[in-house]
Amino acid sequence: MKKTALVTGASSGIGYALAERLAADNYDLILVARSKEKMDAMKAAWPDLSVKVITKDLSKQGAAKEVYDEVKWAGLVVDLLINNAGFGLVGAFQSLPIEQQSNMIQLNCTALTELTSYFLPDLRSRSGKIMNVASTAAYQPGPFMAVYFASKAYVLSFSEALSEELNGSGVTVTALCPGPTHTQFGAVAHAENIKMFSRTMNVSDVASAAYRALMKGKRVIITGRLNYVGALAAKLLPRAWGAKTVRMVTGSKKTK
Ligand SMILES: NC(=O)c1ccc[n+]([C@@H]2O[C@H](COP(=O)([O-])OP(=O)(O)OC[C@H]3O[C@@H](n4cnc5c(N)ncnc54)[C@H](OP(=O)(O)O)[C@@H]3O)[C@@H](O)[C@H]2O)c1
Repeated sequence: MKKTALVTGASSGIGYALAERLAADNYDLILVARSKEKMDAMKAAWPDLSVKVITKDLSKQGAAKEVYDEVKWAGLVVDLLINNAGFGLVGAFQSLPIEQQSNMIQLNCTALTELTSYFLPDLRSRSGKIMNVASTAAYQPGPFMAVYFASKAYVLSFSEALSEELNGSGVTVTALCPGPTHTQFGAVAHAENIKMFSRTMNVSDVASAAYRALMKGKRVIITGRLNYVGALAAKLLPRAWGAKTVRMVTGSKKTK
């Protein structure tokens, strides 16, 4: 039977690269993001697949339910849910508009959690798979990207807990933890000129490792050897050291 994958943030970066791999493996696709034209172009590029485009701003309250309703009205059942859409912002907490930071929490955490809840019955009935895109940011506090790092700590914790809850149910949950990766993320976050983004991984390599881990049902995948070592060090060292280390690569000025 043909399988259907829903990918949020499919219009760019890691989500786009994952959608490409799914298309190559003959999955039907439900693409969710705000950029309709980009997703329409993806649909046109895969004429042999059934591709549904849902144009949605997932940072708006209630958006996850609207996506679920649209999928149900179309009579589709999801076998694979990839909660990938997300963004970050670089800057001192008090200098960043709180509305943007709230939108970040809504997108990175709330929409991801709600989509997981709505689609879980589908996934249970199909022995399906979930991938939640966290980050190596999940492993330590992140001064000058405080809300972003906290949001990814939420995603990792939630995903690992749910993976254990669903153990034996047939549904697997994989948390993807990439380090800095060459996508639109840096530009959106205004992170291009900070040290943290001086070395980035190729998005194709990240998507390949993520895809393998998803198919194997691994609980956590940290992409790249250096990122793996960094995350391991963050687990072993005091969190205050982790925060100071991140401060060195995200911003250096002292704030009062
Ligand atoms: N790149 C990195 O260095 C890095 C590292 C660790 C983790 N991550 C995580 O990887 C995930 C994907 O990011 P990326 O690096 O691929 O960045 P990207 O190229 O900027 O892609 C982000 C995707 O999310 C979608 N998106 C953003 N805001 C949205 C909204 N309000 N509603 C719906 N969709 C929205 C974007 O589509 P539209 O603009 O069309 O809506 C786009 O498809 C994110 O969760 C990010 O936190 C990235």
